[in-house]
Amino acid sequence: MTSNPLERKSQAWSALFSEPMSELVQRYTASVGFDRRLWRADIAGSLAHADMLAHQGIISHADHEAIQRGLAQIGDDIEAGRFEWKLELEDVHLNIEARLTQLVGDAGKRLHTARSRNDQVATDVRLWLRDEIDALNILLVALQRALVEVASRHAATIMPGYTHLQVAQPVSFGHHLLAYVEMFARDAQRFAEVRVRTNQLPLGAAALAGTSYPLQRERVARSLGMVDAQGSACVCQNSLDAVSDRDFAIEFSAAAALCMVHVSRLSEELVLWMSQNFGFITLPDRFCTGSSIMPQKKNPDVAELARGKTGRVVGHLMGLLMLMKGQPLAYNKDNQEDKEPLFDTADTLRDTLRIFAEMLGGLKVNPEAMQRAAAKGYATATDLADYLVNKGMAFRDAHEVVAAAVKQAQQRGIDLSELPLEDLRAFNAMIDADVYQVLTLRGSLDSRSVLGGTAPAQVLAQVARHRVRLA
Ligand code: ARG
Repeated sequence: MTSNPLERKSQAWSALFSEPMSELVQRYTASVGFDRRLWRADIAGSLAHADMLAHQGIISHADHEAIQRGLAQIGDDIEAGRFEWKLELEDVHLNIEARLTQLVGDAGKRLHTARSRNDQVATDVRLWLRDEIDALNILLVALQRALVEVASRHAATIMPGYTHLQVAQPVSFGHHLLAYVEMFARDAQRFAEVRVRTNQLPLGAAALAGTSYPLQRERVARSLGMVDAQGSACVCQNSLDAVSDRDFAIEFSAAAALCMVHVSRLSEELVLWMSQNFGFITLPDRFCTGSSIMPQKKNPDVAELARGKTGRVVGHLMGLLMLMKGQPLAYNKDNQEDKEPLFDTADTLRDTLRIFAEMLGGLKVNPEAMQRAAAKGYATATDLADYLVNKGMAFRDAHEVVAAAVKQAQQRGIDLSELPLEDLRAFNAMIDADVYQVLTLRGSLDSRSVLGGTAPAQVLAQVARHRVRLA
């Protein structure tokens, strides 16, 4: 067995050090407790690097084969839970490299030629994040599909549309849900854009300045799938930037925070709609919890928690921004702190999207309660004003006339549509019997058939568009 310098790390880094690291410092500086989850990316990066070193004649083919064999075994061991992670080996990179040398001897020591942990970790995080983004996008599609399907069943279901949380105009429940589909579609677009800037290769930057070995960075990028839409290799073009910036992680966090904010808005609505005061929906029992003291309670905990977890994800974004702001070029150990917030962001968003796609698929809707609520708030007042405008009145005058009519209806405790024709005509003689067509909720809804409007025909057209887009 050859001696393994990495194994001596706990005593001292190298001949340069005269005393071992204190145990507290070891614990403080170690990241293996959390960065071990980068192991797949770490091994993939090492394989691509070794392949290129061999291709360039920097290591021998025998060494390359030994490295491949050793890394394959390490991968199997980690997967099977047999790998022994050592705190004294600090991080995922040193743990894997030390084990490789244990397994294959000197070839393992040659793997780190023309590489530093600085470009290695930047590569690992990018590879890991790229796969997370791909997984998130699949979940975002599932969530949008779930919403589109509920919307398709409720294109003609009338609910009160609100501004200032006051009843404003009737809208289709399907239309309301499709508003969230638009938000999640933009989220998916944002993630796709972040992916482009994430999927670029730092390896070859080495510690900070590049390396004197004749590397072929494009080859490494290609074997890691770091290519653009045209198939060209995507390689970070400045070594100092490559090892030090984490803007791709910050961008991802920002996109994730925004996506969680969208989920949070929807959550707030679900909580309101499920309350006794609204009674618009019920969520499937398996997504609710009871109270330990009040037997009648069924609480929308999942929606509330998602709203709460949004704070956490937004907090991670702030954390990452602050992590970056004071760092001089190039790599600083501060960057080790990027991982926990990033991991937690991806985990939280992933779980949230998955659970929402399922929960919304099981949403039960109470159209009568929605209709009753819409009927209560004089939601067709604008329609009456538009009716008068159609008859030739200026909109501001019509607004005044309708306000007076609403006031009278309120005093009598009835809806506009329940005012007798002669009473309506007392406000303005242009009003005829056909007014009742616009005063009904259904008439109001059907009339808003501009592109992007709430008329059921428009909603169904949007449903069709989304189905094609999400197929
Ligand atoms: N664990 C470190 C990180 O996450 C790896 C890079 C360490 N590089 C160094 N020169 N100390 O950033």
